Amino acid sequence: MKKKSILDFIQMKEDGEKVAWMTAYDYPMASFSEQAGLDMILVGDSLGMIVLGYKDTIPVTMEESIIHCQAVRRGAPNTFIIGDMPFGSYQISPEVAAANAIRFLKEANVDAIKLEGGIRVCEQIQAIAESGIVVFGHIGLTPQSSGVQGGFKAQGRTVESARAVIDDAIAVEKAGAMALLVEGVPSEVTSFITKVINIPVYSIGAGIDCDGQLLICGDMLGMFQEFTPKFVKKYANIAEVAVQGIKDYISDVKTLKFPEDKHCYHIKDSEDAFDKLFEEYELSALK
Ligand code: KIV
Repeated sequence: MKKKSILDFIQMKEDGEKVAWMTAYDYPMASFSEQAGLDMILVGDSLGMIVLGYKDTIPVTMEESIIHCQAVRRGAPNTFIIGDMPFGSYQISPEVAAANAIRFLKEANVDAIKLEGGIRVCEQIQAIAESGIVVFGHIGLTPQSSGVQGGFKAQGRTVESARAVIDDAIAVEKAGAMALLVEGVPSEVTSFITKVINIPVYSIGAGIDCDGQLLICGDMLGMFQEFTPKFVKKYANIAEVAVQGIKDYISDVKTLKFPEDKHCYHIKDSEDAFDKLFEEYELSALK
């Protein structure tokens, strides 16, 4: 499989071919994603909730993100990977943002970075883009600022709120982002954004009328059990399969159904030779 670049995604937009992407945080999920033929993978800071068990994304650090990006790269060497800038790694200044984005590329070997926010992070987007790094913007519902947004709430549902989302989209493109993710926004607004800006526009919970879709693996494959957002379609139920598998294992162990002979190693020398060996130990234990 040939690894795609941002130019391929721009071409796919021109050709009207939709992009399918998903989050992944570790080697096995990255490997499954590449085998299945996903167009790209986001190592989202949803890592904090889906894999690390934090209550939200705020505690995720650069170090944690880098370790997980490295694992994903090992599992999906031929897939375009986007590293998500964790909270605190870019808000302080454009210089800090660029330094952390550069660290992401050097240490985690990702192809692009994503950061949350519109107008308020445009200086950061510009600084990172000017360093020669592919930047994905992320507007609408932005989980890192869910405190300010009053929770994980859809944005752009009123004219005033939609104006803010559209202004953010225009500003993010102007600042140098090469793609835009819109989260938790009405389809009508996303559709309009896709018409007024030129970079690829992707949706997570923002309708179908754009250039592709992202879902979180924990949601769409049924691994995250705390809650399921309205916009998620579940394609598998890994939690159910895993719990049942573990239950079957427990039962087999307790009823001596596991291990079977085929799961055991066997001696290579004669039984007599082994009897002699065991005898030697028994005799020395008697001394
Ligand atoms: O961290 C993440 O997975 C994300 C998605 C919610 C878009 O940023």
